[in-house]
Amino acid sequence: MTERVLTGDRVTGKLHLGHYAGSLKNRVALQEKYETFILLADVQALTTHFERPEVIRRHLSEVALDYLAAGIDPERATIFVQSMVPEIAELTVFYSMFVTVNVLRHNPTVKAESKQGGLDEMYYGFLGYPVSQAADITFCKASIVPVGDDQLPHLELARKIVRRFNELYKPVLVEPKPLISDMPRLVGTDGSAKMSKSLGNAIALDSSKEELALTIRKATTDPARVRRSDPGHPERCPIYAYHRAFHPDGTAEIREGCESAAIGCTACKERLTAILERLLEPMRERRSRYAGRLADVDDILMDGTRRAREIARETMREVREAMSLNYFDAGHSAPAAME
Ligand code: TRP
Repeated sequence: MTERVLTGDRVTGKLHLGHYAGSLKNRVALQEKYETFILLADVQALTTHFERPEVIRRHLSEVALDYLAAGIDPERATIFVQSMVPEIAELTVFYSMFVTVNVLRHNPTVKAESKQGGLDEMYYGFLGYPVSQAADITFCKASIVPVGDDQLPHLELARKIVRRFNELYKPVLVEPKPLISDMPRLVGTDGSAKMSKSLGNAIALDSSKEELALTIRKATTDPARVRRSDPGHPERCPIYAYHRAFHPDGTAEIREGCESAAIGCTACKERLTAILERLLEPMRERRSRYAGRLADVDDILMDGTRRAREIARETMREVREAMSLNYFDAGHSAPAAME
């Protein structure tokens, strides 16, 4: 059997170049080799957006469109909606019986994300989202999970849950391995450490030609390079970081040109715009093919979800059997009330 890959995104906004560099590009390659599952994590998005579920609603099809535009092929990859696979919620409950609160509250990513307040202010669903993420991964027995390094604690927990389940009951679940992106996190156009829509320093994947050019023109450069004749410091410039990420072959030339002041910021930005334009143009084309037929995007999500559910039902059947919770399961079918 080919190995399964599962990964996904919290549905809180449109995707940007940081997502492309850090994960989408890799997914497009992975779908050629593995059976790939991509999850629109709407339940996980609720952990922070439960008061504004319309944000999730609004972005569901947009994120799906970003996937399709980036080259994720619905014939190869299964794109599906987390909340529409109830077996994931079911598994989350079962797993949560043998995960201690202590393990969850020491999860470094949960800690970092909870900002202030600590446990006193923390919601039960938020504290437990790594358990739900383990259910996301294990329902389809994924063995490979491409993620950023902030997700490693969650992967470690998922592995622990699998080992514990298999040892307590029966070896039904598959231990997932993380696949860490080798791309450094993409900086924002303001030079801050992370590109993020909420920080207003992102380059949206659906930028038009004009928007792209304007965003790059307005982006921060090395603050120490005041005059055209001043030598620049590429390491302090987001434009250089983008050259490195999206046109590695030209990086040395840009570096030398910047450090010797042979090339000015305007020219350097124009070159970058051309490079990014070559990346975004085919995405725009794919996007426009779907944008007129949003019903087709919904169909893709429904088909993917149906497929994910079939697999989830089968895993759930094995899980219940392993846990001796397969009451009334004389035949193959579950009682009607469970359907
Ligand atoms: N927590 C992940 C993120 O913020 C999204 C996610 C949800 C995920 N479930 C997953 C990633 C399962 C990998 C596997 O990016």
